[in-house]
Amino acid sequence: MRYAICYVSTAKEGISDQEIEEILNNSEENNNKKDITGLLLYSEGNFFQVIEGVKEDVKTLYERIKRDKRHSNVIKLFETSIHKPSFDGYRSDLVTETTKFNPVKMQDYRHHLEVLDPKTKQAVENVLRAFIY
Ligand SMILES: Cc1cc2nc3c(=O)[nH]c(=O)nc-3n(C[C@H](O)[C@H](O)[C@H](O)COP(=O)(O)O)c2cc1C
Repeated sequence: MRYAICYVSTAKEGISDQEIEEILNNSEENNNKKDITGLLLYSEGNFFQVIEGVKEDVKTLYERIKRDKRHSNVIKLFETSIHKPSFDGYRSDLVTETTKFNPVKMQDYRHHLEVLDPKTKQAVENVLRAFIY
């Protein structure tokens, strides 16, 4: 059964652009190799992430991510089984001034949430909207 966890967190004080790039790129690379799919965004000191995959893998990865010293205040938004096959690949992004108010990107992010049940999807979309606008 596929499973998903979604959280927001606060990047560590003084995190550099290079460190952020490293987190985004490494996560995308690792996750694509391990059939973990979802979305990781960084915007103005905060991370937003959805990880999706085989239940045990997702839980293990989440525990590892939570211990990572490059962020704190990890707040879980949901943890749930999902009703459709997986997301189509992993996407990590830096939300910059130009990304904001970009409806095409928002559409792309929303596409990754299609696998969630409608109620959860709506809740996540609300957070996502607040996150990137
Ligand atoms: C905000 C944030 C999100 C992360 N997301 C992932 C992820 O999706 N996949 C991943 O493999 N590592 C992710 N990491 C990195 C892990 O915390 C960890 O450093 C990495 O998996 C390597 O672990 P290891 O050194 O124990 O092998 C993330 C780190 C942070 C700070």
